[in-house]
Amino acid sequence: MKFNTPITIALSKGRIFKDTLPLLEAAGIEPAEDADKTRKLILDTNHENVKLVLIRATDVPTYVQWGAADFGVTGKDILMEHGGEGLYEPLDLHIAKCQMWVAGYPDADLTPRRLRVATKYVKSARDFFAARGQQCEIIKLYGSMELAPIVGLSDIIVDLVESGNTLKANGLVPLEYMHDISSRLVVNKASWKMKHDDCQALVEHLRAAVEG
Ligand code: PRP
Repeated sequence: MKFNTPITIALSKGRIFKDTLPLLEAAGIEPAEDADKTRKLILDTNHENVKLVLIRATDVPTYVQWGAADFGVTGKDILMEHGGEGLYEPLDLHIAKCQMWVAGYPDADLTPRRLRVATKYVKSARDFFAARGQQCEIIKLYGSMELAPIVGLSDIIVDLVESGNTLKANGLVPLEYMHDISSRLVVNKASWKMKHDDCQALVEHLRAAVEG
């Protein structure tokens, strides 16, 4: 495909980049350099008009919301926290799949007067417990949530579970399923309107790559 307008795609290094690369390649887009071997933040591609920007996964919705990137790839967990303002989510890329769970000790009480929940996913946790009328106090963490119940920081955690090995290794179990998580393609709403032909063509090529 040929791009007539400049298109910027925001990706994060590591797993998302690795798993998105074959999809981009199937859509005819190839980065000029290996993201994991460069300190550059903007990568050229084989299309003069297409650039990749490399940022933290949690920043992807922000860049796309403000139009600093036209497209982005990031996890549904991160999109739920962001809230989705200013962007569309046209495609589930079916990569980086895992689930969001409430987890803790097997005998954890999920119904105390005020449940203490440690998590990176403040909004998801708040929404989940609000929906069941459970009062809770959310303790925001940035990683290693599994430690929180062990040291008495919280009663339970809300975290992503893939193999379940991290929970198991720390004596914890999944208690309540919350959501299926995977990486999604997001697009800035104004870009979708102003650069519609290029944006739609890219989405359809990626859709074909995902389905193929
Ligand atoms: C994620 C998640 C769990 C773990 C789940 O952490 O937060 O800790 O992976 O994977 P598993 O079920 O296969 O063990 P990550 O490694 O991304 O680091 P983090 O603690 O900084 O979030």
